[in-house]
Amino acid sequence: MKLSVIGCGYLGAVHAAAMASIGHDVVGIDVDARKIESLSKGEAPFFEPGLQEILSDGIASGRLRFSTSMADAAGAQVHFIGVGTPQQKDGYAADLTYVNAAVDGLLPHLSPGDIVAGKSTVPVGTAARLAEVVEPTGATLVWNPEFLREGFAVQDTVAPDRLVAGVPDGAEGERAAAILRAVYHTAIANETPFIVTDYATAELVKVAANAFLATKISFINAMAEIAEVTGADVTQLADAIGHDARIGRRFLGAGIGFGGGCLPKDIRAFSARAEELGRGESVAFLREVDAINLRRRERAVQLVVEGLGGSVYGKRVAVLGAAFKPHSDDIRDSPALDAAVRLHGLGADVVVTDPAAIENARRVHPQLRYEQELDAALQGADAVLVVTEWDEYRRELTPEHAAALAGGRVVVDGRNCLDAGAWRAAGWEYSGMGRP
Ligand code: UDX
Repeated sequence: MKLSVIGCGYLGAVHAAAMASIGHDVVGIDVDARKIESLSKGEAPFFEPGLQEILSDGIASGRLRFSTSMADAAGAQVHFIGVGTPQQKDGYAADLTYVNAAVDGLLPHLSPGDIVAGKSTVPVGTAARLAEVVEPTGATLVWNPEFLREGFAVQDTVAPDRLVAGVPDGAEGERAAAILRAVYHTAIANETPFIVTDYATAELVKVAANAFLATKISFINAMAEIAEVTGADVTQLADAIGHDARIGRRFLGAGIGFGGGCLPKDIRAFSARAEELGRGESVAFLREVDAINLRRRERAVQLVVEGLGGSVYGKRVAVLGAAFKPHSDDIRDSPALDAAVRLHGLGADVVVTDPAAIENARRVHPQLRYEQELDAALQGADAVLVVTEWDEYRRELTPEHAAALAGGRVVVDGRNCLDAGAWRAAGWEYSGMGRP
């Protein structure tokens, strides 16, 4: 099928390349000429496992191309909208400028019968409004939210847990759902559930899923706070409650909390939208979820301060991790960098290392010192703070090796990802999050 993807950021670039990899003829469109130039050469503009391969294969096969001109979307049967919906600068609500501009720009190039498929995460009610904008062209709007995780984006796009399509009522909706089924035929053949529903439900599935995940993380981090004043161990607690299949162990990783381009801004936008709808109290708990999450960043910093005897001023702190999670170079709302910036603010001599995100981190926080090599960051450190659970720190770094490089013996495990016993046995003063 011929497809267009409007917006070639994280979501759009992966979607375009993944759709070409399953046999579609795809054009990706973005206003950023530099991004389009890089994508056209088959070069991934960000770090995402597997993207580089499907991108260059797609370009080589001739099934994938990129353009800055919206006119190139003409002729595609389905037009995916994959632009960002960031948090507004002066509030919690989502900024819909890019979604609105994408749809407006697409209008002159639509033909009757085309499908416009929104993938961006939007406040509930957006699809119904956009459907009216699209209607005069004879095209049909569907809402097809994206659930991809960074680091697994290609896999999540090609073989998602579920597909959701919010469609209008009646024959038009049925036709649209059938077209989307054809787009995703490979996943559906592998028994991926395909859920057809209305616009509002489709929009809410996405925000509800992210709100649930954020709540699960903040729940365990709240338990970590209680563990800290009672001497309990939150990791054992999580293992034990996680055995209950109704609860499940995943997303019960206590630590410095969630960050990234989705969970934090999505729960805030959801709260803002619920308030607009007069139902703020229904999701008032999300404010608490956000507050618990932010408190854990401060807690990690506090553990470093305590470990260094009450002050970090003039002390060298090696911060292991800058990305908001491993297998990503994304530093958006990264708890790792937040902790590093706070320590720097307290007068510490902070050295940040990360296998993938140093370049991005340096651009946003030029005041911090960076070392690409882990050993160089550890050299002479009075304290070590682990904030992104890369395998390089979790599995490969031994406490003996770290001890040979560092000056001090204080380690704070902001992700509860180190073997506490092994670090203690090697002479380190180990502190985890919510662990005795
Ligand atoms: C998330 C959703 O998982 C995805 O479905 C949605 O489409 C976009 O938002 P992503 O932001 O890529 O994806 O990352 P995710 O793996 O969900 O992690 C989010 C944050 O939570 C990270 O900072 C991670 O470190 C943190 N986290 C995750 C925890 O602190 N504890 C956990 O147990 C799990």
